Amino acid sequence: MYRLGVLISGRGSNFHSILENIKKGFVQNARIVVVLSNKEDAGGLKIAKDNDIDAFFIDPKGLKRDEYDKLLIDKLKEYEVDFVILAGFMRILSTGFIETFKNRILNIHPALLPSFKGLHAQRQALEAGVKFAGASVHFVTDELDSGPIIVQSVVPVLSDDTEDSLSERILKTEHKIYPLAVKLLTEDKIKIKNNRIVIKADEIDDNFYIINPVCDKKE
Ligand code: GRF
Repeated sequence: MYRLGVLISGRGSNFHSILENIKKGFVQNARIVVVLSNKEDAGGLKIAKDNDIDAFFIDPKGLKRDEYDKLLIDKLKEYEVDFVILAGFMRILSTGFIETFKNRILNIHPALLPSFKGLHAQRQALEAGVKFAGASVHFVTDELDSGPIIVQSVVPVLSDDTEDSLSERILKTEHKIYPLAVKLLTEDKIKIKNNRIVIKADEIDDNFYIINPVCDKKE
């Protein structure tokens, strides 16, 4: 059983979706042992408390990035976390943090990476006039939104879309692919080879191919 630490800054709907998928048995090999937030009023903290998961607001005020990240590292180590799940965590992590959990940090970004990195990805997609948008779950490396991609979802961009309507369409798929990525990771089905993810998909059901139609059936 792998132990997950989840980092949030806001409403925590991705955290919630992972939690629900653990509860209903879609993700079987993991449990969320701690939730950390850099925002005191993050909605996700309440979700954690309602579900009896230890959750902490860690105040960044007055701290340098390294000092703050050391507090995060200490807490995650105290809870013996195997994987760190970034779920709307709105801070850049230090090299020290990323090295401490090398290849063990996941993030979700609301764009088809490598397009539209950084903030307001959905707005960037609308401004670029692309016809398809989506979300990406990826490993976190030192470079922003750039690590190996594990799973992506694709949605159409409609001509009357606003930033809100597009974000909502993408978010629905985020709630599917993040639990899927966590499932694959914690069933040891993911390998990183030359910066690309190879997925052992022998036991994955049909839903997987709808989300991720091109994958490696055998290694
Ligand atoms: C999501 O859109 C995610 O892709 C981005 O931040 C948002 C977090 O939403 N990184 P929530 O807090 O999980 O509801």
